[in-house]
Amino acid sequence: MPSPATPDIQSGSHEAGNPPSLGLSMSHTIIIFGASGDLTSRKLVPALYNLCRAGTLPQGTRIVGFSRTPHSDAEWRASLRESTATYAGGEPLNEECWQRFADAIHYQPGDIDRPEDFATLARRLEALEAGEPTTRVYYLATAPQFYEPVVTALGVTGQADEATGPRRIVVEKPFGTDLQTARALNAHLHGVFREHQVFRIDHYLGKESVQNILALRFANTIFEPVWNRRYIDHVQITVAEEVMVGRRGGYYDTAGVLRDMFQNHLLQLLMVTAMEAPVRFNATAVRNEKVKVLEAIRPLGLGEVAAAGVRGQYEGYLKEPGVASGSQTATFGAIRLEVDNWRWQGVPFYLRSGKAMSCRTTQIVIEFRQPPLELFAGGRSSFHREANRLVIQIQPAEGIQLHFHTKVPGEGMRLRYTDLEFSYSKEFADRLPEAYEPLLLDVMQGDASLFARADEVEKSWEIIDPFIRAWASVDMPQIPHYQLGEWGPIESFEWMQAQGRNWFDQCPVLG
Ligand code: BG6
Repeated sequence: MPSPATPDIQSGSHEAGNPPSLGLSMSHTIIIFGASGDLTSRKLVPALYNLCRAGTLPQGTRIVGFSRTPHSDAEWRASLRESTATYAGGEPLNEECWQRFADAIHYQPGDIDRPEDFATLARRLEALEAGEPTTRVYYLATAPQFYEPVVTALGVTGQADEATGPRRIVVEKPFGTDLQTARALNAHLHGVFREHQVFRIDHYLGKESVQNILALRFANTIFEPVWNRRYIDHVQITVAEEVMVGRRGGYYDTAGVLRDMFQNHLLQLLMVTAMEAPVRFNATAVRNEKVKVLEAIRPLGLGEVAAAGVRGQYEGYLKEPGVASGSQTATFGAIRLEVDNWRWQGVPFYLRSGKAMSCRTTQIVIEFRQPPLELFAGGRSSFHREANRLVIQIQPAEGIQLHFHTKVPGEGMRLRYTDLEFSYSKEFADRLPEAYEPLLLDVMQGDASLFARADEVEKSWEIIDPFIRAWASVDMPQIPHYQLGEWGPIESFEWMQAQGRNWFDQCPVLG
């Protein structure tokens, strides 16, 4: 039962195809630190509103914002109304639904540096919850330097204690800036929260098409026999973005593409592509298998790292606000990792990401080996046939395409490269949920399957740190540049070709 002190968010009418309310009887309070920031207004609150509208937000959920801006409840609601109308995805706000949702939004002004403000927050939460057992979700949507102070203050004021209901904390990226800082952050979190209470979020795991990789691999039998070194030549994972760094120059110039995209999103995609089938679908089993992939990645010595990757910077990056003059920060990167286990030994995984590239596309390309004998070359000695490929298009235009050769009707054995495809938009009429929607529900339910464990983030940094160090070394030649709208610097093509391979440079394969 929701508290009489707080109007609860009742489930809205269930639209066709939506699951019924999750049956979570305990009420939930989501406390957002960094309530006046972009993440809150652009992602978190629109995601919660969408859940409410779909009828899947647990009943009795309340949202409490905490930040320094001196808002009242009404002022914060009004500002969220505007941002939610913009970011909740297309349709105008549903008035009746918004009203129900807004009634359960509260605001508590406070300063992260003042312990007494956390005591005031604790009293406010107790009043709102009115003694009812409640699951609390503390969401760190602040700048990363505030993570540790918030955690300390929650500990000091007893707010991590689970005597009256689960207490969970969501930690956004960046989770540290290297292995050492990630370890320190884990240690700090573990000083106050136990691991089962910590949810390290990577929004890539909330994307439908990423979760579908698990379904593709583990709900079907037809892919498993070929999903290994015997049939696969290599794997390419590309996250190409058209956008530039824009307003985020100050942050980006200290992070670069390796910290911003590789340590988290790209490695997550690698893990779900390469992992073994877990014995069951729960957080422990899934994360054990993911960590094993990271453990199998061949460590590289400093001398080897430079040859195992290519970096680049888009023309004009140095003019972006917040970027240091002469900055050597990479806005593009491509690296090669080897997974030394029975399934993957000898199959390189190429990871590539960049800003200001030709188009926005995130794709995983599984490139298969050539047949052992070429029967249809027509006597030509220098004959190259495109390999079979399975392209998993993560975004936009989510779906899967299988590329193979077909005989062209008519005389002789003329072949053409053709495809079979599955497209989400053709198959399912419903809007694809934004990544934060399922992830927020998972936190409320206490399901950590799609969140990174402490050892997983530390292992990820161990893999990426050597590249960061090598690329920052004074011995590195000047960073190569690429024009806006290209697939990275020419060095990236040359590097791939020197390994006898080519990038699969196609803007979304599906329409
Ligand atoms: C963020 C990065 O984690 O992911 C951004 O900080 C990047 O630089 C973004 O643009 C990409 O996310 P998506 O979901 O748009 O692919």
